[in-house]
Amino acid sequence: MTSTDTRTQATDGLVFPPGFVFGAATAAYQIEGAVDVDGRGPSIWDVFSHTPGKTHLGHTGDVAVEHHARYREDVALMAGLGLSAYRFSTSWSRVLPEGAGRVEQRGLDFYSRLVDELLGGGVDPWLTLYHWDLPQALQETGGWTSRDTAARFADYAAVLHDALGDRVRHWSTLNEPMCSALLGHMAGQHAPGHTDAVEASRATHHLLLGHGLAARVLRERGVESLGLTLNFTPMTPATDSAADADAARRLDGQQNRMYLLPVVTGEYPADVVADLAAAGAPLPVEDGDLEVIAAPLDWLGVNFYFGSVVRATEEPTGKASAFIGGERVEEVPPSGPTTTMGWGVTPAAFTELLLRLRDTAPGLPLVVTENGSAWPDEVSADGAVHDPERTDYLLTHLAAVTDAIEQGADVRGYFAWSFLDNYEWARGYDQRFGIVHVDYDTQVRTPKDTALVYAEVLRRHR
Ligand code: FCB
Repeated sequence: MTSTDTRTQATDGLVFPPGFVFGAATAAYQIEGAVDVDGRGPSIWDVFSHTPGKTHLGHTGDVAVEHHARYREDVALMAGLGLSAYRFSTSWSRVLPEGAGRVEQRGLDFYSRLVDELLGGGVDPWLTLYHWDLPQALQETGGWTSRDTAARFADYAAVLHDALGDRVRHWSTLNEPMCSALLGHMAGQHAPGHTDAVEASRATHHLLLGHGLAARVLRERGVESLGLTLNFTPMTPATDSAADADAARRLDGQQNRMYLLPVVTGEYPADVVADLAAAGAPLPVEDGDLEVIAAPLDWLGVNFYFGSVVRATEEPTGKASAFIGGERVEEVPPSGPTTTMGWGVTPAAFTELLLRLRDTAPGLPLVVTENGSAWPDEVSADGAVHDPERTDYLLTHLAAVTDAIEQGADVRGYFAWSFLDNYEWARGYDQRFGIVHVDYDTQVRTPKDTALVYAEVLRRHR
């Protein structure tokens, strides 16, 4: 059997509704490099990654995969694979070097050229305004712990829309506010690297408020495809004991429900509000905020990587990755194969998640804005990158999406994370999530076998 036959066979049975969007995703700081080019100001990730001890081997995004210089080549690759859409983020401090006020036209021009290149290649741009790289100037006035940052975010949304709104149809405000708030302010694993429950709680609310204010600005400017991307980790209690059930409730509350419910129902989950108050970290909600946060959306972006099994512990372990209160909960190490991130492979949890969203947010279309896996890839002697584990992950997770669609989940699209190998935040360059391999010495791009299988899924869908 030829490899083309193998690919065709592997994609048999994966049938998606008409109009289903297939793409791949990236984020500005993870791929662009060119951190000092054309007047870009520093972001919290520049500062964090340059702080000794914060990232794997001190890796930074200074060079990344030089997408700022190589965007034409990258778009040509996407078009060649037949991707119909590309999800990327814009760097706030490339456009507003001080976070507010002075606009750097050369920063806007870069995104304008990228958008033109995408449209010319038949690839629809899906723009995310914030993928974790707050301008450092705003961090210095309190960052997301300050209410003012939410208003500045809405101003930035207006600047971007004024420049690109004539060509970009799909707009998203935030990527994974849970990670910005909890990994950045509680676990200290991400920029700005703080470990303070009060800050984490304030950041949670101000991120969501910023989302709502930016959504309002985009809506006023006529955006008709407006979304927000949340990440979800389904939490299963390790046993049916009441203590484990409560551990799962609390983690699910802080990591999942805390972001979903205010957006879709206009209310924070009461149990989490009570837990945060008990931890001395109440939410800084003011009158009218929840109405702003619950601005109607056209789609919810869903990022899914794995589901967790959680249990209660006798003593605080600090093993729950992102949690306010330092409590007696921990995530059980995954059973079965794990990716190089140490994450389990749990496609059934993906279907369950999509069905849960079908029920919690009825009528709100879902778009999978990230899903993917990291493995130890190498370029083989034949010049190819054989990545069977990633291919298996892709196909089983696409099948999980089709299962959910058959059961009534309104899923409209899927973006593979990531288009390119890139800077995996604090984990540096060792974690390869790309469907396209990047040689970090030469910047040569090589589509992995997974990219070719994905291209076959897309070809059949068309
Ligand atoms: C998500 C992030 C993305 C990438 C993947 C692996 O949480 O949005 O930038 O790091 O995880």
